[in-house]
Amino acid sequence: MPGISQRFLSVEDLHAEAKRYLPRVIFDYVEGGADDEICLDENSGRLRSFKMRPNYLVDISRRSQQVEVFGRTYASPIGIAPMGMLGMVRHNGDMTLAEVAHQSNIPFILSGASNASIEEIAAAAPDAWAQYYPCKDPAIEHDLLERMAKAGLSTLVVTVDVPLHSKRERNMRSGWVRPYKPTPAVIFESLRHPSWVASYLRNGLPVMKNFLPYAPTGISARDLTAFYASQVPAPHGWPLIQNLRQKWKGNLVVKGILGSEDVLRCIDEGVDGVIVSNHGGRQLDRSIASIDALPSIVSAAKEKLVIMFDSGIRRGSDVAVALSLGARLCFVGRAAAYGLAAHGKPGALRAIDILRQELDLALGQIGCPDVRNLGPRFLWLRRSQETPDLASTHY
Ligand SMILES: Cc1cc2nc3c(=O)[nH]c(=O)nc-3n(C[C@H](O)[C@H](O)[C@H](O)COP(=O)(O)O)c2cc1C
Repeated sequence: MPGISQRFLSVEDLHAEAKRYLPRVIFDYVEGGADDEICLDENSGRLRSFKMRPNYLVDISRRSQQVEVFGRTYASPIGIAPMGMLGMVRHNGDMTLAEVAHQSNIPFILSGASNASIEEIAAAAPDAWAQYYPCKDPAIEHDLLERMAKAGLSTLVVTVDVPLHSKRERNMRSGWVRPYKPTPAVIFESLRHPSWVASYLRNGLPVMKNFLPYAPTGISARDLTAFYASQVPAPHGWPLIQNLRQKWKGNLVVKGILGSEDVLRCIDEGVDGVIVSNHGGRQLDRSIASIDALPSIVSAAKEKLVIMFDSGIRRGSDVAVALSLGARLCFVGRAAAYGLAAHGKPGALRAIDILRQELDLALGQIGCPDVRNLGPRFLWLRRSQETPDLASTHY
């Protein structure tokens, strides 16, 4: 049996193995987007449409991916995005990705819909960030923030691009429902993935531990998921950000920003950073591709807050493109989830290593030995990509 680094040469190899390991219903939950999945396809498609312009005859013998964000130096500008219900992918999935990020010295964002609790993640990876979905009950919001602060977490990420549940037809067709309740067809298909089924039978349905204190004592994992769904999503507006800014003393990041007016308002409200994201194509199918939203946001922000990016990254060269357009950090969702599904912790580490090695190669190939020096001069921009205004309206 070849070693993991020979078996999985690319994120696509991990993707193929994830598909083999996971029952279709779980694979589709990870893989899918909203409606026709136009946005899902365009996120990667548009990233790939950017071409790089190399500078040769540059000394690239020493190359660095180190970046500083919120006063901390990370080994690479590639972090792990928040993903809910990772316990369905692999037992203890949140913890595994938190450990991978901690070990690799890259940022990890614990999902607001995680299975692991804030406290257990903070104990294993004190440098983790925590994502929050607005809850209907203000007492729950208050308590979650207090718990994050008490656990010593530095950075709160509030996701604003889920005002309503989206229509994920792929999930509906393959039988994904919240709370998870497999139909006979789903059970039958799952039997073709015996390793996953064995783990599920051993460990049971994963519990959304963060919400246990707010639900009736002795609640089942299934009913707890239903309780969570009764709280999230909650309607919200800018008062949410004002309120969080007032209560949260650490770094405040808003995830799901796609418009320059919104980034200007974030600056006014004292937000420390934004993640330019369309939720990996899982929310608004007619959303602009994240990479197309990035230039105008960077130009509006004028370095007054940290601009980060996600959606569609499958190669290290995708990271090089996003950094060249002004992102400081990039997050990956599915790429890390594929690694986790394919081979647990070694698989997730492999996903990060692949991306880091590919980014390193891209830096060497284009003659930019330090990620901090990436910029538009390393991109060949078509006319429609030349100015932020055009880039944000043309495809
Ligand atoms: C399985 C899965 C679950 C997700 N859950 C969350 C979540 O709980 N909170 C959140 O803010 N974003 C969530 N996202 C979106 C990711 O944080 C990120 O924006 C997206 O995955 C980036 O796109 P990519 O998968 O193409 O890298 C989820 C994405 C996936 C694939």
